[in-house]
Amino acid sequence: MNRALNKVFVWPISTRIIHWMLALSFTTAFITSRFEEMLHNHVALGFIFGIMIVYRIIWGFIGPKYARFSTFKLHPSKLKFYFVEKIQDRWRAIPAGHNPASSWFTIWAMIMGSIIVTSGMLLYGIQEAKGILSFLNNSYYNHMDILMIIHQIASYIFLFWVFLHISGVLIEQFYHKTNMVFAMITGFKRAKGEDTEVSKRLNFFAYSIIIISIGTYLFITSSNYNFLTSQKFTSIDYKSQNPIFVEQCGDCHKIYPPFLLPKASWGKVMKDLDNHFGEKITEANITKSQQSTIKDFLYANSAETSTRESAVKIMKSLDKRRPKAITKTPYWRETHKDIPRSAFKTKKIKDKSNCIACHKNFDEGVLDDMNIIYTIK
Ligand code: HEC
Ligand code: HEC
Repeated sequence: MNRALNKVFVWPISTRIIHWMLALSFTTAFITSRFEEMLHNHVALGFIFGIMIVYRIIWGFIGPKYARFSTFKLHPSKLKFYFVEKIQDRWRAIPAGHNPASSWFTIWAMIMGSIIVTSGMLLYGIQEAKGILSFLNNSYYNHMDILMIIHQIASYIFLFWVFLHISGVLIEQFYHKTNMVFAMITGFKRAKGEDTEVSKRLNFFAYSIIIISIGTYLFITSSNYNFLTSQKFTSIDYKSQNPIFVEQCGDCHKIYPPFLLPKASWGKVMKDLDNHFGEKITEANITKSQQSTIKDFLYANSAETSTRESAVKIMKSLDKRRPKAITKTPYWRETHKDIPRSAFKTKKIKDKSNCIACHKNFDEGVLDDMNIIYTIK
């Protein structure tokens, strides 16, 4: 290897790729989490991040010299000495591999990263009812809120550490002038030590993992219906389940899936048909026996009976209230608060109750984030 004086080759290309893929996938996953319609990108980036975390942990046991956990400097006294020396001696020599601060940072990042990925996969399965863990939705739907809190807090802690890490590197770069920024780009560090070497087998392993992670990304973003993305809840054919409901209640507006309101709300809707949002619906329109068929159907499929995210969250947001409209539930208000009121008055949408204008296949009970056809500007 062509090597200049006092330069040591510490980060082989495989290690550098892990590092930058971790950094990039975390940053982009963080950004895409802000946008509901980018759920698949978010999840796919999370998969890259997760695969890289697992790979980094394995790399810590079998990887090249300076990447191994056995070379980490984890004793608290070393960490203390690191900072004392840093303050006292601007021109101190730096170690070839991980210094005590970056050793600790790597360990904590692996732990936090694992928490982020695990809670994210559980959320995708339990809350969104999507992917390979969607079977958990049925038993654990009540835990979606706490999972979300864990997922978010862990991500913010991770982000905070990333800032600490970047600050540390910049201090090395500009104050101590150890050229640390470029070490993770070129692989060379200005330190004393042996060059690292990576066997062909290790390189093969590293490149395979990288290809798998990118392949997974492409697979997830390619379709809403493969085994990593499809939702447990498929479209419901209400017409075959209860033709009277669809014919009578789908006359003036598209039907509202029964799982979006609790029993008592449907009870009120059916009791007050003669004053139905400004319309007068009488037995001449919907006969008594049709009304009771519809009511039974609404009751049997109300929000209480569903483990869908929307049903669970509507129930939670309602507490003891039982409004007659979905648009009157706190959950609906909360999820639509960023949509300007003028959007509901456009020619195409007309009214906030016109759910299907923004939620494709709404009348088949589909409320998948991937089916939202309105983008908040
Ligand atoms: C005569 C026309 C008509 C029929 C028939 C009708 N509705 Fe409605 N419904 C309306 C109107 C008008 C609104 C107000 C919202 C709108 O403009 O779409 C409304 C609103 C609703 C809402 C509130 C939606 C929201 O904003 O959250 C529910 C729930 C509802 N209807 C259920 C039913 C059910 C159940 C049936 C069958 C028993 C039914 N409707 C039949 C006209 C009708
Ligand atoms: C103007 C378009 C528009 C209309 C009309 C509309 N929605 Fe939405 N809805 C959205 C958007 C956009 C989001 C995603 C909000 C976000 O990104 O936080 C959303 C989110 C939701 C969610 C939460 C989905 C999730 O997984 O987070 C539910 C449930 C929902 N809408 C139900 C309804 C119902 C029921 C109606 C009709 C009563 C309705 N929406 C009418 C645009 C609309």
